[in-house]
Amino acid sequence: MENGELGQIYFGKRIHIKNQYANLIKRERREAMPSWKVDQYDFQPDHLKQEYASLGKGDFREPAYQVQQENGSRITELQYVDYRLQKGKKRLSGLPSSFADESGDVETLAVYLKDALSGLTVTLRYSVFPHQNVIVRSAEFVNKGKEHLVLRRALSCQIDLPDSHYDFIHFAGTWSRERHEVKRSLQPGIQRISSLRTESSHQHNPFIMLARPQTTEDCGDVYGFNFVYSGNFLDQIEVDQYGTSRVLIGINPEEFSWNLASGATFQTPEAILSFSSQGKNKLSQQLGHFYLNHLVNPRFSNADRPILVNNWEATYFNFNEDKLLSIASKAAELGIELFVLDDGWFGHRDDDTTSLGDWFVDRTKLPDGLAHLADKIHGLGLKFGLWFEPEMISLESDLYQEHPDWMIAAPHRTLTPGRNQYVLDFTRDEVVDTIFKMMAKCIEEARLDYIKWDMNRCITEMYSSNLSPSEQLEMPHRYILGVYKLYQRLIDHYPNVLFESCASGGGRFDLGMMYYAPQAWTSDDTDAAERILIQYGTSYGYPLSMMGAHVSAVPNHQTGRVTPFETRGHVAFFGDFGYELDITKLSKEDQKQIRAQVNLYKKYRRLFQYGNFYRLESPYEGEKNVASWEVVNDDQTLAIAARYQLLNRPNPSYLRLYVRGLNPDQLYRVNGSQETFYGDELMNAGYFVDQVLDINKPITGSADFSSRLFIIKAVK
Ligand code: DGJ
Repeated sequence: MENGELGQIYFGKRIHIKNQYANLIKRERREAMPSWKVDQYDFQPDHLKQEYASLGKGDFREPAYQVQQENGSRITELQYVDYRLQKGKKRLSGLPSSFADESGDVETLAVYLKDALSGLTVTLRYSVFPHQNVIVRSAEFVNKGKEHLVLRRALSCQIDLPDSHYDFIHFAGTWSRERHEVKRSLQPGIQRISSLRTESSHQHNPFIMLARPQTTEDCGDVYGFNFVYSGNFLDQIEVDQYGTSRVLIGINPEEFSWNLASGATFQTPEAILSFSSQGKNKLSQQLGHFYLNHLVNPRFSNADRPILVNNWEATYFNFNEDKLLSIASKAAELGIELFVLDDGWFGHRDDDTTSLGDWFVDRTKLPDGLAHLADKIHGLGLKFGLWFEPEMISLESDLYQEHPDWMIAAPHRTLTPGRNQYVLDFTRDEVVDTIFKMMAKCIEEARLDYIKWDMNRCITEMYSSNLSPSEQLEMPHRYILGVYKLYQRLIDHYPNVLFESCASGGGRFDLGMMYYAPQAWTSDDTDAAERILIQYGTSYGYPLSMMGAHVSAVPNHQTGRVTPFETRGHVAFFGDFGYELDITKLSKEDQKQIRAQVNLYKKYRRLFQYGNFYRLESPYEGEKNVASWEVVNDDQTLAIAARYQLLNRPNPSYLRLYVRGLNPDQLYRVNGSQETFYGDELMNAGYFVDQVLDINKPITGSADFSSRLFIIKAVK
């Protein structure tokens, strides 16, 4: 802008480049508004589309940042200084972040701003990933002045959209009911989702969308925003007096402040911005491609993820070596590839009250040690994975006896346990170091292929005896930086170990985690009917390869519901597939089904894990009784669609499945049908789904919790 502050012109569908856009920054003078006068210009800041706004100079919307000087003043005037354009995108140091080398067409723009009075400089970074319609933004603060500054708020991105005719779509829930879609139209005032739990949380996911009200899966304008961070976050939209919408994404300013001594730097995490004018399916697909190409650990971002069996719901804490080996040998026999030993193998942990922090084997359960068990499992031809909860400590543990001061607690206050456990102070390097050494020993001893990193409580009494009083509000962010430090160190030392993140299921299903752990346990709820809602909601912001999905026992342990084995498989196929039940106790028939499911999954694994995903029928809309979705390969020669019935109806309407993403001119067969269908027929006229499979029986083709899989193959 003419006064040297940075204005915003436009963010949306690509438009032509011009030298100036007077049309897009036009504004009128209105009464009763403070104004800046610069030469002949007269600005009323409350009307401006600002790039990175502060508070206190006439723009009364919530700001992107706030800095306090020694004298208590919180006014800043960031003036444009310079810019630099570079090829590629460098990773941030100490934070999970996007990346691209210099040989491609990704470019990074750095815009340098300075507040002359305090000496504060801010660099706004924008990396443009043209193939996925993604822009990555962050801000870096450097105190180049002499006085001590305090950062009271430092968000990663601000967008000032010129109107508010959008639906705000976000993903809410709780433990075992994560990421259910919520949609509401923007209203005047502030609407926000956030976390103050020091985890991105089960309650709200950092991924949000703003969609024009008429937008569907296949057409219409939609913005997507995500945040590469695992701690307290804020996604906020403020609709102001003129109906404009300010989007703010970043670290939650509540429970945050940062000392910026002379010479010090603070780097915000990255915000991800994307836009699609072709509906929500397209938005999800481009985000998925972006994460896999530019965010997830390249060692695993395109690798086949193993089919696993996890002993948690099979045994809980009650197992010994014989039991584990009986599950593992059955798994090997059925074609499963990875055995994951969950909670309860360490210290003397027979329930959830003890031993967290004692990462050495429990000899009463595994008398011959981890290496012995691992050798046996590897000997069966299986990979071996182990569960850890590295950030936690139990009062009844050797670690607590040795280092009671490593536990997070506030002086002279009572403790608030969660699941009978407490949290280690990950702002301390010696804590990160000790846990690293214990985990490293296990990884080497057991030659681990896989680690499930769990985190089963959010943090209370946020206080660190490691920090000075003025640093206490830095703790939530410093804690997460400590978690990232441990992840990075483990990955650097053991690059072939695949990590799965978990936080009581989906409490940290975020891009910060995905940078280190390319897949996450989507939810502790393994009930097929509930999982449809969870996986459907999750799919808006995250691709299938990030979602762990397992077949479990019935009656289901979370809901008590009984669903067919087949349906449990059909739901879990769409993700990183596995089993979570005692496979040694199954009938011959169920074992046969496992073998068939494993074979089918292996055959179509690339499609299930990395195919282009389409949501077809939403369980959140209409009668909320049906869901369907589909994956299609890149060359459109193979697709698999699934249709799930929740409750059955007598004498229901005729059913057609309208698939997506096929080649309209290509002939296909569905489930090996004699008849062939052009792609345009299947997509526009639909595929007839018969429901009356046997006229003498109730309608079984859409029985309660039944499901159908449609394998669509191009005719050669
Ligand atoms: C919560 C996880 O989500 C479960 O899968 C299991 O690992 C338990 N923790 C173990 O305590």
